[in-house]
Amino acid sequence: MSLRLTALIGAVLAIAVIVSSQSSAQRGPVFTEDGDLVLPSGFRQWVCLGGPITPNALNDGKAQFPEFHDVYVDEENFRHYQRYGEFPEGTILVKELVLAQPGEYPDGSVDSASGRGYFPSALHGLDVMVKDSKRFGNTNNWGFFTFGHQAPPYKPFAKVMPASQCAYCHIAGVASTDMVWVQFLPVLTAKIP
Ligand code: HEC
Repeated sequence: MSLRLTALIGAVLAIAVIVSSQSSAQRGPVFTEDGDLVLPSGFRQWVCLGGPITPNALNDGKAQFPEFHDVYVDEENFRHYQRYGEFPEGTILVKELVLAQPGEYPDGSVDSASGRGYFPSALHGLDVMVKDSKRFGNTNNWGFFTFGHQAPPYKPFAKVMPASQCAYCHIAGVASTDMVWVQFLPVLTAKIP
């Protein structure tokens, strides 16, 4: 085999490895030695469970998270929930914040061909929950992380947030549904078509 052909085959194989490693989305959480969570990869290829929105204009101009909240879970953990009604250990729930289009009306809404409402514009932050009873038993088995509240790129690592920042509110509101606001995510509990 000529040297050139060998080099060409090598290059094609290298590209194939890169492409396949990019398309295989991450599943379980990855922690550093210090216990920081590594930014999950590939989550935009996971199942999107829904996207609530709490605009500033409807919250006295100071909503805690004024964007759309697009929630993702990987397909295997989604199937597990549909089957057993609970998330298994190691589940990652990603909430990506997405800015709304700048408002034209006092309530922050805008007109579009489909009607007046709220429409997404730009990615603007990433919050994550990880189910791990060994690490996060003190906060009902879920750890809470934020990788930034701004446009990407997001932080590569995040420390677990104190309970007083995140978990307290999920404990107060949805301890009975394993810390997840399932009532706002109908795709989770819908019958399998
Ligand atoms: C004051 C209450 C409150 C606080 C504080 C809070 N959350 Fe939430 N969180 C909610 C509510 C309500 C929802 C569902 C509705 C929505 O997204 O607006 C939610 C949804 C989520 C979701 C999607 C899964 C689900 O349960 O629907 C994630 C992930 C999440 N929060 C992470 C965090 C992180 C990380 C923090 C801290 C940085 C945090 N939350 C702080 C109330 C809160």
